[in-house]
Amino acid sequence: MSTPTLALEPLLSCRGLVKSFGHVIGLNGADLDLYPGEVLAVVGDNGAGKSTLIKCVAGALIPDTGEITLNGERREFKRTQDARLQGIETVFQTLAVSPALDIASNLYLGRELRKPGVIGKVFRMLDKKRMRTEASQHLQDLGIGTVQSITQTVETLSGGQRQAVAVARAAVFGSKLIILDEPTAALGVRESARVLQLIKDLRDRGMPVILISHNMPQVFEVADRIHVQRLGRRAAVVTPQTHTMNDVVAIMTGAMSVDEKDQALGPVRSAN
Ligand SMILES: Nc1ncnc2c1ncn2[C@@H]1O[C@H](COP(=O)(O)OP(=O)(O)OP(=O)(O)O)[C@@H](O)[C@H]1O
Ligand SMILES: [Mg+2]
Repeated sequence: MSTPTLALEPLLSCRGLVKSFGHVIGLNGADLDLYPGEVLAVVGDNGAGKSTLIKCVAGALIPDTGEITLNGERREFKRTQDARLQGIETVFQTLAVSPALDIASNLYLGRELRKPGVIGKVFRMLDKKRMRTEASQHLQDLGIGTVQSITQTVETLSGGQRQAVAVARAAVFGSKLIILDEPTAALGVRESARVLQLIKDLRDRGMPVILISHNMPQVFEVADRIHVQRLGRRAAVVTPQTHTMNDVVAIMTGAMSVDEKDQALGPVRSAN
């Protein structure tokens, strides 16, 4: 049985991305498509090029060759700020939070709110009160109620809470899409469930998410489509409805290949 597909254009497309690090090939002609409103899981063995791929999309790496288009327009990101300005927020595999700063400061790192008027514009005075109020509202909106004080420094938070702050930051500022690289790798069962719920909430709000994960049950729980990365390129795209976890692992390792006609290269759910 085939899933109904919609004739939608991808929000994000990568074609033929190549990235080498000296003799090591990180990406070897990688493609990727993300459609509006979907959760796209990216899976693959260690070293398959998942992080390298999303770093290119996030502007953290510049591909040697290949094309990235956003809403049909060619983009060349030179730094993460370029991607951010286009509404792409990424939580990298190595969390980029500043442990010594408090939660509010972490949320607004690099885009601090200034006080209104001359003291903000000329003297660059920060509006700490507003950042704290808004940060705590954002965390509450995202259902992260376990943080006791917004003035707590991030180094005093648990791994899960830290992850939540990083995801919250992405959720608050990502206006087009959010990329999460292994967001639950270091988390316990309850904390992972919370991050998964955040991903579902984001999708319910119409925000597309790219989720990189090694955790198959989690991938099968939240993904609309599963992009399998192998040896620096896209080996197949399948769905939790058409393929089993064993199939996906077999594709990851090269033990199984999928005919193009049996792949989910287009969107499988309606954007809301
Ligand atoms: N900065 C770098 N310098 C040299 N080699 C790199 C660099 N970044 C990635 N690589 C290499 O590129 C390949 C792809 O790495 P990448 O981190 O994208 O894999 P991954 O799929 O994210 O793996 P994992 O599941 O372990 O996170 C690997 O062989 C890796 O060693
Ligand atoms: Mg990685």
